[in-house]
Amino acid sequence: MREQFHIPKQANGQDEIYFCGNSLGLQPKRTQKYIDDLLDDWRRLGVKGHHQGEYPWLPYHKFLLEGFADLVGAKESEVVPMNTLTVNLHLLMVSFYRPTKTRFKILIEGHAFPSDHIAVEAQLRFHAESMGFNPGDALVLVEPRDGEETIRDEDIIEAIEKNADELALVMLPGVQYYTGQVFDMASITKAGHKAGAKVGFDLAHAAGNIPMQLHEWNVDFAAWCSYKYLNSGPGSVGGAFVHERHHLDKELHRFTGWWGHDESTRFLMKPEFNPIPSVQAWQCSNPTILSLAAIRASLDVFKTAGGIQELHKISNSLTGHLRNRLEKECSQYVSILTPQKTMACQLSLSLKTGAIDGKKVFNALTENGVTLDWREPNGIRVAPVPLYNTAQDVDFFVDILNKTFERL
Ligand SMILES: Cc1ncc(COP(=O)(O)O)c(C=O)c1O
Repeated sequence: MREQFHIPKQANGQDEIYFCGNSLGLQPKRTQKYIDDLLDDWRRLGVKGHHQGEYPWLPYHKFLLEGFADLVGAKESEVVPMNTLTVNLHLLMVSFYRPTKTRFKILIEGHAFPSDHIAVEAQLRFHAESMGFNPGDALVLVEPRDGEETIRDEDIIEAIEKNADELALVMLPGVQYYTGQVFDMASITKAGHKAGAKVGFDLAHAAGNIPMQLHEWNVDFAAWCSYKYLNSGPGSVGGAFVHERHHLDKELHRFTGWWGHDESTRFLMKPEFNPIPSVQAWQCSNPTILSLAAIRASLDVFKTAGGIQELHKISNSLTGHLRNRLEKECSQYVSILTPQKTMACQLSLSLKTGAIDGKKVFNALTENGVTLDWREPNGIRVAPVPLYNTAQDVDFFVDILNKTFERL
């Protein structure tokens, strides 16, 4: 599948070793055509493009549903492309964080991605006064144990049980952005529900990385972005999942707009809201079609590759190869934060450089054509992506890393 992507070039004309798909995925070659076709329709058809052309804009989001559903393990009625990730988290919390005077807490991880933490605190403050709780008492933060880098699933479950009487919402990532750890979403959902809470996931680092079964696991809601493993371009439209058991719930609060209203009467332009009986009811605005075209191109690449289950097998062998070589050859200088049992694209490394400045190691890698990301004080995230990275990329990276350590 590598042939189907534009691989950025180094100054010497050779392909970069691009291990940054966990941050921004590469551009599929077919994306240009999908977007050009759209621009062509707009040029030729003007407003008629809403209904005409091979891929009319009015139902355009529906061309993405099969692909999204496959990626997250959902029914097509449970997934929709809309907005961007943090916006979707807010919209979904409007529906699924409904605190009462006694059940008002939200459980997240201590080192959640900042946007998630900020959004959750905003939701707490939004409800605190009317419900008479102190936002400071309402946030349950789960941390790794002393001396450990990652959170144990059993500690999450324990924290859920401990706060069961007051817990309204559990919101965690599917894959942790910094450590690459995959959380046990099925068990967390079960424990959250047993405690009487709703359970939602931020799948920014999970969508397009690992197979999931959101429907079967009974997850209440989830949201993801499409610019990482979904290769749809910077700031591209995100995705949302709401389990079908909530679709017809009339008690549910939503921040609504006309695009969530029943399609057959939408253009009668009445001020009432009659929700589409699916997650599409959560759509507020008509979506950014240019961005949806990029997502459609990307989802077609996943389909051509045989789907996420097949890619995950390749991912495991690539990441496994990287782990083996690092453990065998670099353990003096590198420790791997990502738990061994995690089977996903990303390995997060902590540089044990002692007297050597870790940033110098990172810079040397960059100068040698390896694109990674650096996290202070000494972290490097390496994401071999099965769609476009190869075992040779992994070998080249480890060779350069070894040479850099020797040289420095
Ligand atoms: C885990 C996680 N949550 C939230 C965000 C924020 O995404 P957005 O800027 O699309 O809202 C990101 C972005 O990288 C992320 O990795």
